[in-house]
Amino acid sequence: MPTSSNDTKRLSELAASKTGQSGDHTFPSLTANHYLSADIFQSELARIWRTQWVYVGRSDELKSPGDFKVLRIADREVLLVLDASHQVGAFYNACSHRGSTLCEASFGQLKSGRIVCPYHQWSYNLSGELIATPRINLGDQTAQLGLDRISLTQWAGNLYLNFDEGSNLSVLDGMIPSAETLNNWPLATLTVGHRVQFEVKCNWKIFWENYLECYHCPAIHPELCRIVPLYQGGMATDYLKSGFKGEDRVAIGIESWTETGQTIAPTFEGLSAEEVEAGHTFLEIYPNQYIVAHPDYVRQVSILPTAPGRTLVTAEWLFDPKVLQKPSFDPAPAIEFCERLLHQDAKVSELNQRGLTAKPHHHGLLIDLESDVWDFHEHYRAWMSDPNEDNRTT
Ligand SMILES: [Fe+2]
Repeated sequence: MPTSSNDTKRLSELAASKTGQSGDHTFPSLTANHYLSADIFQSELARIWRTQWVYVGRSDELKSPGDFKVLRIADREVLLVLDASHQVGAFYNACSHRGSTLCEASFGQLKSGRIVCPYHQWSYNLSGELIATPRINLGDQTAQLGLDRISLTQWAGNLYLNFDEGSNLSVLDGMIPSAETLNNWPLATLTVGHRVQFEVKCNWKIFWENYLECYHCPAIHPELCRIVPLYQGGMATDYLKSGFKGEDRVAIGIESWTETGQTIAPTFEGLSAEEVEAGHTFLEIYPNQYIVAHPDYVRQVSILPTAPGRTLVTAEWLFDPKVLQKPSFDPAPAIEFCERLLHQDAKVSELNQRGLTAKPHHHGLLIDLESDVWDFHEHYRAWMSDPNEDNRTT
């Protein structure tokens, strides 16, 4: 249910430009191997997940110096730590000595103000500098044995990391349509009121593909189709097809994506009349996050690949902190509506993956209602054709 830069482009025109044939309304998708192959998955890690900016959490998850968070991005494990100057640092969660895991828990507080390896007790300060090595003085070597830092940046209260320390990409480069799309929402000041995380048995690209088309919406999301008329036509954008005219906005009388269709919190100040009337505004941040901004709350969903057929999904509901603090505030109507959507999508994504293993030689096709999926595949092909792959495989 996105808004892409190509949302008004006829797929037939697109297909004609790709195939040289006019009048086509279908064209090839990726092969099943792209969703099943361990070799292709490894190439994706090298060419996409270790070169692009990846969402890893909200900056306010770490509140006091020494607060830490550990997360795994495929075959790598990352330690986020808040240092004494209230700056978040990202490091590989491995000791410089013999590589032991440093922090075992997913979240915690380093009460000693140090990162202490549980194996031989090497200690690092919160900035990752090696400060103690029991029973040995490493002299000048000590300064070289700090933790390996990973590039980290913030946008709108979100943290993104990039394993490619020489990257000249900006997190803004992955945004579609652009960061300005959400300029009128106070994203940086919002607080997560609810978070869910679960694994879906599908390739990470299948999760994106499902998000990027609404051809499935009439059958899979009847509740959503009742509040967004365009989706009843199987369309994800205001692409016009066969005389069907629709706008990508909620129905008259509907205000937001909630169980009742009504807002559950005051409308954010600063939104335009169009943004309020639309009821939803989308931003994709490739390769691992999309944001849906409503008049009263914001929802962001991120994914991390764990295996060719496994994807970790995290969904966060963001609210004005003043609203969250009110005892009478009930976010349930927004949470329940969108959790149902997520699980509906997860179920069909798993069906898609399972079918590909049943028929592994399958070569799918896209129809004109799935033009945003084609756009995603164009991004994918560009990432995977990166000529610098050989430098990024380690
Ligand atoms: Fe869906």
